Amino acid sequence: MAQLDAQELAQAFRRQFEMEPKIFSAPGRVNLIGEHTDYNDGFVLPSAIGFYAHVAVVPRKDTKIILRSTEFEQTFEANISSAGLHKLGGWCDYVLGVAAQLSERGIQVPGANILVHGEVPIGAGLSSSAALEVASAMGFLSLAKAEMPLKEIAKLCQRAENEFVGAHVGIMDQFVSCHGRKGNAVMLDCRSLDCELVPIPDSVKFVICNTMVKHELSGGEYNVRRQQCEAGVRILANAYRGIRALRDVSLQQLQAQASSMPEIIYKRCLHVVAENDRVIETARMLRAGNLKSVGKLMADSHASLRDLYEVSCAELDLMVEAAQGLLGFIGGRMTGGGFGGCTVNLVEEQHAAKFAEMVAERYKAKTTISPDVFMCSAADGAGVEIEGRR
Ligand code: GLA
Repeated sequence: MAQLDAQELAQAFRRQFEMEPKIFSAPGRVNLIGEHTDYNDGFVLPSAIGFYAHVAVVPRKDTKIILRSTEFEQTFEANISSAGLHKLGGWCDYVLGVAAQLSERGIQVPGANILVHGEVPIGAGLSSSAALEVASAMGFLSLAKAEMPLKEIAKLCQRAENEFVGAHVGIMDQFVSCHGRKGNAVMLDCRSLDCELVPIPDSVKFVICNTMVKHELSGGEYNVRRQQCEAGVRILANAYRGIRALRDVSLQQLQAQASSMPEIIYKRCLHVVAENDRVIETARMLRAGNLKSVGKLMADSHASLRDLYEVSCAELDLMVEAAQGLLGFIGGRMTGGGFGGCTVNLVEEQHAAKFAEMVAERYKAKTTISPDVFMCSAADGAGVEIEGRR
């Protein structure tokens, strides 16, 4: 996809709306480990990456929101009147959902002309939607001359996706799009929203490989996984006191209840409980500089997502396999919701370019699909940008 910088986006905006816009940006993310743990009140370890959603905005005198994108033809029009905003179907709903949530909180969002440019590949598991939500929230808050703490912005964007779009996602993506920090992963406790920065060694690159199989979270399987986890919690809460989420369950407690739950529910719970432990261990090993152990934990995570949580797919498994044994490879796994999208690989910087080439070649040989492969490092979140650091 052609990438526009802020100036080009402003020019495109002026051409379309004949006004001078303000531009707000928020990044996508890659999750190093801790998959499908966020909505179980657990732990995650994502980094923001240097692909952004940019939202160019100017206020209007009426209550209309006119929405265009540099990538898609269609213009959407909505009205922030007393009747409220409604889902229109399509990418515009991420923006409208945020406006609706702000209005619900009593923040007077004016009508606006909006042009969106997304660099984050769509449906690749790199949080193009969270990036768009967070950038939109920053834009609307500025138009409304209102302020909101970053954590509240992240929660509001999550609610927009849950309630307006209908994808019952957790808090990880919106949180790291706000709070990411250059050179670091963010270990987030998704219950308390306390977070710690975990430095990524300078000698390590993220090589992100897109299977080119698109995933879709707003339907089916993602929400089914959430329901299965909730079913597990109901059974475990009967057996033990103080269980509110899978976060509260130890491996021993879960194993002791294996016979009291359907096998499929047990498998889902087993993934989540063990994955939480892996996140904490990965952060510890990264801090200790033990990259070999980090690689092993990532491999275990992938196997668990494939066999227990069943959210991988043939292409993701092939992409993970394609990385094995390549020079400089530290560890790799599927990243994000699954059912397609990307793998993330930690690779020694000096070998990263060759690794990217080889992994693409191997994947293509097996699938006939040419994958997109990106070399990235951990980037700053939107919050750092609005504090004027960039
Ligand atoms: C998607 C969701 C996140 C998280 C991941 C799986 O990216 O948006 O909240 O649940 O899937 O870890």
